[in-house]
Amino acid sequence: MNILGLSFGKVNANTDVLVKQALFGAKAAVKDAKVRFINTTGLKINRCIGCGACSRNLEKGGDNDCVIKDDFQMVEDAVREADCLVVGAPVYVLQPVGQFKDFVDRFSCRHDVSAIHWVLDQRKSGEAPGNAEDFPSDRLRKRYISYISVGGASTKNWVSMGTATMHLFGFPVMMQVIGNYDAHNMGTIGHPILDQKMMHDVFEMGRQTALAPGKREDEFAWFGPQGTCPVCHQDLLTVNGTTTVECPICGIEGKLSIEGEKLHVSFSEQQQARARGTFAGLREHTTEIQGFGAICGPKLMANKERLDQEMEKFKRFDEYINR
Ligand SMILES: Cc1cc2nc3c(=O)[nH]c(=O)nc-3n(C[C@H](O)[C@H](O)[C@H](O)COP(=O)(O)O)c2cc1C
Repeated sequence: MNILGLSFGKVNANTDVLVKQALFGAKAAVKDAKVRFINTTGLKINRCIGCGACSRNLEKGGDNDCVIKDDFQMVEDAVREADCLVVGAPVYVLQPVGQFKDFVDRFSCRHDVSAIHWVLDQRKSGEAPGNAEDFPSDRLRKRYISYISVGGASTKNWVSMGTATMHLFGFPVMMQVIGNYDAHNMGTIGHPILDQKMMHDVFEMGRQTALAPGKREDEFAWFGPQGTCPVCHQDLLTVNGTTTVECPICGIEGKLSIEGEKLHVSFSEQQQARARGTFAGLREHTTEIQGFGAICGPKLMANKERLDQEMEKFKRFDEYINR
């Protein structure tokens, strides 16, 4: 078994220590596991430039490698080799540090399980070039993951999008999330080693992550606070002025009710089954994207002349703005 620890924090600082502590737990659970740790701070992981080359390459029969040549590929390869992962990131301005999101942006679309299956089905039916059988199977391997969010503030609302945003790492690949740990308050704790409970909990989360492969769906015990959403266990909600609310991470609807001072949100089984990180949820989005061309293509063609003309002032903005 390959276990990977990824830290987006400073070398040997809080996130590193907590991710490594989880790896100690993972190794204690599976003695012969091969454990690898990567700190990303010195790595060059540029932003996704939105060129779409990875998707087009997949549709043309390739293995959708990224056209940007930097350290991203090395980290991606490490993720592809892993069976279990522990990913930690410090909170910078309420969310995980930007490099984390840059990695997620470049990793997620290329590994979207539904999009990959869509193309593989086309290869099987001969609608797309390439051999479905030759496609690297590690792309679709079942992986298990836990997240650690690290913050300095003791006021919890200063890490309000910490753990929630970390869940964006694994959902397109349908990684099974074992737990998440919100290590905020580092500003007064001083050092993770000085918080015995934190070190114990993170060790245990790592242990449970390594024990996950081979378990049945109903055997996973969520490690962390239960939260409001029963799928991602986060407490964020999108409200729209009605009693129907949405989990912004899973994209599923819940019904809100209030009893005295208690607020309850119930998410139906049907909604839970279409959460963003399920195949059904991902497929909804693939279908949506696949439909774009048919709607947009004719519209863009019909308006080509007008768009070319009106785009002039946007392309030559500096000339036009002070006229
Ligand atoms: C630019 C910057 C922004 C930060 N923003 C927050 C924040 O919004 N909330 C918070 O709790 N901590 C914040 N912190 C503190 C870090 O999350 C904290 O120091 C953490 O331990 C850093 O992780 P590391 O020790 O693994 O590098 C911020 C730190 C920096 C440098």
